[in-house]
Amino acid sequence: MIRGMRPVVVAANWKMNTTPADAGELARTIASRTRVQGVTRVICPPFVCLAAVRDALTESDPTVGVGAQDVHQELAGAYTGDISAPMLAGLADWVIVGHSERRRDHGETDDQIGGKLARAIEAGLRPILCVGEQLADREAGRAVDVAEGQLAGCLAEHDVDRLFTAGLVIAYEPVWAIGTGRTMVGSDAAAMAEAIRGSLAALGWGEAAGEVPILYGGSVTAANIGEFLAEPALDGALVGGASLKPEEMAGIVGRAGLTAAARLSAVP
Ligand code: 13P
Repeated sequence: MIRGMRPVVVAANWKMNTTPADAGELARTIASRTRVQGVTRVICPPFVCLAAVRDALTESDPTVGVGAQDVHQELAGAYTGDISAPMLAGLADWVIVGHSERRRDHGETDDQIGGKLARAIEAGLRPILCVGEQLADREAGRAVDVAEGQLAGCLAEHDVDRLFTAGLVIAYEPVWAIGTGRTMVGSDAAAMAEAIRGSLAALGWGEAAGEVPILYGGSVTAANIGEFLAEPALDGALVGGASLKPEEMAGIVGRAGLTAAARLSAVP
């Protein structure tokens, strides 16, 4: 990593799609169509598909990271249906935490998400922490306050250096833009990324606030990724629906490669 140059990251969140029978082939196809220099690629399949995706990528393109979509905040115990960080050893090197669909469907709180972050980094998993406001919050002018509150709640007990060294990535995902086809204007997403960096600085992150990669997520496609990556404040995308389509991923990662090349050429 070049100091002062944030990496460009494209992460695929497959959500509750694919099966162990077809996930490996899809991962292999996406990997082969997104071989672009300078872009960090990650595929996050459902838990039961992690092994198939890991095997496919180990054999075809080990430069693509594998991520889980969640991790429990406890190490073990009576938590039916849940998956702990130690269980992910050898299966994943990244993990998404605090996705709005988990907040919505599983009632996850900032406090629990903070625990998930802790278990993730203890296990050597690179976390992608999701934050973002509901439509009502945005319309009421509270979008920044919401993201700030989520960051403060999730990061409260954490040591900045440890999180930064663990490679924390933040995904800003406005809830109203997820799976709706509604996207945010690129400059508004960039303003949120700047506000998130401001919040991190206020939480004591110092210089690291400017070095954490911030991704945009919410109905990203090959057709609109350019609008987000034209913004220097944004460092990539967390892609949902379009990440299941190799041609979409090829377009998204291809555009991300242009940003990565431009950043590299700007290094003195
Ligand atoms: P969509 O790209 O389907 O809107 O999903 C975004 C998302 O939630 C990624 O985590």
